[in-house]
Amino acid sequence: MAAAASVAEYHSRDFDWDELREEVESDPCLAYHLTPSAPVSCSSSSSPSLSPCEADAWRSFHRRHSSGKFFKERRYLLEEFPELARCDGFAKVLEVGCGNGSTVLPILRAKQSMIIYACDCSPEVLERAKEIISSANGISSEERFHPFLLDFSVNNFPKWLFCSSCQNALVRNQSSSSEDAAEKLMTRDELDFRTNTQCCIGGVDFVTLIFTLSAVPLQNMPFVLAQCFSALKPGCLLLFRDYGLYDMTMLRFPVKQKVGDREYMRLDGTLSYFFSLDIVRDLFVSAGFIELELEYCCLDTGIRIELWT
Ligand SMILES: C[S@@+](CC[C@H](N)C(=O)[O-])C[C@H]1O[C@@H](n2cnc3c(N)ncnc32)[C@H](O)[C@@H]1O
Repeated sequence: MAAAASVAEYHSRDFDWDELREEVESDPCLAYHLTPSAPVSCSSSSSPSLSPCEADAWRSFHRRHSSGKFFKERRYLLEEFPELARCDGFAKVLEVGCGNGSTVLPILRAKQSMIIYACDCSPEVLERAKEIISSANGISSEERFHPFLLDFSVNNFPKWLFCSSCQNALVRNQSSSSEDAAEKLMTRDELDFRTNTQCCIGGVDFVTLIFTLSAVPLQNMPFVLAQCFSALKPGCLLLFRDYGLYDMTMLRFPVKQKVGDREYMRLDGTLSYFFSLDIVRDLFVSAGFIELELEYCCLDTGIRIELWT
């Protein structure tokens, strides 16, 4: 009964995004949000610019909010991404920018068979996430939660996630599978066996990017997405949710905090970018992803517009 009630409560279409756009774009008081800044390319994934301030600002943020209670558990997560709930059996998830575990917790709670690898740039918040998860009721976290420290906006994911030798072996296997599908395709279990006994974990079945990409400078996003793509097993899913264009959070920023096109800096130095569907599509497709679902999520709450793919 509790589950039925929470499913009924989940909604994402409280209003029409195009009506909101018309309202915002015709309001002279909000005109500064629309003024374009210098264009930034979305297609280069090879050379991220160094952005020490961005990760440093988050480290300071987590030191100041050391109780770790700032982010709430995302109880709606499996309703919003039913692919996680439907996934049977053993699966690996990489949560990018995990904070104190708001996204990790509901997955571990709901799916006993899932293992989560989770990174963040703040050692304090990773410690906090470990404490929160190990003290949460009904979660066996010892073998299932693996946090690691990484500034992913300028560093590669570690090779133990998916080394190039196993990646190449899997791609070779898949390309030869069209000739002899039944015999040559390496199954997930075979890959797990091969990789668990050797060099890496063999890639992940899901990457979650939940309110994290917006925290990274726009020019570093292609690099981050290329990294996410390379950590995923072929054919597996990236689940994305983040701030959408004309979210209330964006409209509340004063002009002096606008640091780029749709990009704002909070007083504590952390960044927030607000995505249109076009930009998300451009960024993700340039990184090699295929779009399955992408839309604005329009809620009559403080955070009004979000999108996912
Ligand atoms: C808004 S929080 C989202 C946390 C979590 N994904 C959730 O669902 O609540 C963004 C997180 O990304 C982390 N982060 C931001 N920039 C980062 C970077 N360059 N490298 C690693 N983590 C970063 C921050 O420390 C913060 O914990």
